[in-house]
Amino acid sequence: MKKIILTGDRPTGRLHVGHYVGSLKRRVELQNSGDFDEIYIMIADAQALTDNADHPEKVRENIIEVALDYLSCGLDPARSTLFIQSQVPELTELTFYYMNLVTVSRLQRNPTVKSEIQMRNFESSIPVGFFTYPISQASDITAFKATTVPVGEDQEPMIEQTREIVRKFNSVYGETLVEPEILLPDNKACLRLPGIDGKAKMSKSLNNCIYLSDTAEDVRKKVMSMFTDPNHLRVQDPGEVDGNPVFIYLDAFSRDEHFAEFLPEYKNLDELKAHYRRGGLGDVKVKKFLVNVLQSELEPIRQRRKEFEKDIPAVYRILEEGSKKAEKVAAQTLADVKRSMRINYFEDREMIEAQAEKFRQG
Ligand code: TRP
Repeated sequence: MKKIILTGDRPTGRLHVGHYVGSLKRRVELQNSGDFDEIYIMIADAQALTDNADHPEKVRENIIEVALDYLSCGLDPARSTLFIQSQVPELTELTFYYMNLVTVSRLQRNPTVKSEIQMRNFESSIPVGFFTYPISQASDITAFKATTVPVGEDQEPMIEQTREIVRKFNSVYGETLVEPEILLPDNKACLRLPGIDGKAKMSKSLNNCIYLSDTAEDVRKKVMSMFTDPNHLRVQDPGEVDGNPVFIYLDAFSRDEHFAEFLPEYKNLDELKAHYRRGGLGDVKVKKFLVNVLQSELEPIRQRRKEFEKDIPAVYRILEEGSKKAEKVAAQTLADVKRSMRINYFEDREMIEAQAEKFRQG
């Protein structure tokens, strides 16, 4: 069986380092590994509209931001198909059929939907499209017969729901769809990077993100303002590294080479942590190290972004080509689905003949 990746992001803002360690970086590694036959990376504008119907411009403006983030991280259109969800109408059609395989109560139990409803204060005014977006996500994944979905931990309930839809479809209509596997980051710190204020999640509205497109100076300022252990008041105090955002970022980003390059007094992160715990290591020193680590990871990304920014029409051409290619694949799956559901009337010669025969006999 072919190994196929599908994943994507909602274009509601620029992508941040949480997206990067949680998913983006992995995608590029998977792309470059050569282990996959096909890779589809989708800008999920239709899904973004499910809770931004009143602000379509926000979604429209961010498509280019996300595309630039993708390209500057090293996603390569020659190896990965980059496309825009709304430009593949087959996805919407699939969703309509899958809707019959899912109950309202099952959607209500989806933990991601639940917490998002709370976060958005939808309460009793949940848009139907928003409520059903896990079903649309199942269409995104199954349309490409994806075997592997590299995403962050928050997407786990979505993939589980997709798997259920696949099993249900296959059991009712016959083996047609492929059950995907989730691929989570292998580094625990990368599962969910906290905001620079120590809040559980980076979010644009909390203004606690470090963006991939931030300037070097922005990154430096943000890191130097980061929360650390609130009880680590004086340099000589013992400090806590667990739950300390600066150390979580180091867990996610730092490698032994970084120590050799920027902080040779320590061999690795374990030594640095031990010193912090013992006391005698100041936050400023740790933060300066983190600035260096982040800059060395982000600088090549910023450089590539600058190049792509010089030719925006070319970026749209990449997305247009990708969307055309994606549509061909999705159309094939939709045809398979309709055949399995036997709603392919005009190509079902046998059915037409059998009915003709019945009517002839009266
Ligand atoms: N829900 C994802 C997010 O919020 C975006 C997304 C839409 C997606 N369809 C997908 C991710 C299919 C993986 C697979 O970022």
